[in-house]
Amino acid sequence: MRRPRRNRKSQNIRSLVAETHLNKEDFIYPVFVVEGTKQEIPVKSMPGISRYSKDLLIKELAECMELGIQNFCVFPGLPESKKNKESSEALNPEGLYLSTLREIKKEFPECSLMTDVALDPYSVDGHDGIVENGEIINDATVDLLAKISVMQAEAGADIIGPSDMMDARVGAIRAALDDEGYTNTSIMSYSVKYASSFYGPFRDALDSAPKDGDKKTYQMDPANRTEALLEAELDVEEGADFLMVKPALSYLDVISDLKANFPLPIAAYNVSGEYAMVKAMDKMGWGDGRALALETLLSIKRAGADIILSYFAKELAKELR
Ligand code: PBG
Repeated sequence: MRRPRRNRKSQNIRSLVAETHLNKEDFIYPVFVVEGTKQEIPVKSMPGISRYSKDLLIKELAECMELGIQNFCVFPGLPESKKNKESSEALNPEGLYLSTLREIKKEFPECSLMTDVALDPYSVDGHDGIVENGEIINDATVDLLAKISVMQAEAGADIIGPSDMMDARVGAIRAALDDEGYTNTSIMSYSVKYASSFYGPFRDALDSAPKDGDKKTYQMDPANRTEALLEAELDVEEGADFLMVKPALSYLDVISDLKANFPLPIAAYNVSGEYAMVKAMDKMGWGDGRALALETLLSIKRAGADIILSYFAKELAKELR
């Protein structure tokens, strides 16, 4: 008689037949930087995650490096007073973000440093693009994103991460980087980024929620699967080095489609709301947070993600291979 249960009879046998494993090297740890010194400001909706000033962020990253988590994605949290219509702070070489990138790369030359390219942290409108008369203007935004990308590369970025969903931005960023001699700077495109309700805690962390309207004219409709192939195909043509799906957990089908159809490494962003959901269940006593987190991450990898951006990376480092 065929008995599949034989392969589940002990932990050792289960480990022998396990098809998916989580490794430290699979992870990119997203972190938040704010102005000032000696600042560690917890994000209420993301228990265990804080916004750090540069000095304390360096300490936090040193702990991660020790634990074997060596890939980071940095997001800036700016005060309202530094935001304007033009998002000009994004181009300030002495500003919070670019100076933080330089310092991280100086302290940890061997880490992989991924950036965020979008206007929302710098924009009074809280949108990823330039807003004119209530509309998000694509092409002018793309020109600005390309300039920002070159400055981030200059500051030491290993991977540029356009999270904005404007059309044609990957090609424009690639061309601008190449023109300035940054031919080795990679692009991880947020290729398939959905207009999701799972970004709430992140927008709390950065105070970056859109002031008017929503992001549905540029981020994808959660109803769509085939359209993801178009977004991914364009990014491949335009020169992306990695494709990303975001969020992860509600879009495992899309991760699987991209893995099956494109020859690039596939990343998935286990976003703030997915993190908060697990933490909330744990806090309520409705589930074991550690087990829920590991199962979530395993399912994302099993679906086809080679790389996972996750706020769990540091806390679970010891449990990963
Ligand atoms: C914005 C950006 C968002 C996230 C990363 N970059 C939010 C948004 O699109 O509004 C979300 C990340 C998360 O929820 O963890 N450019």
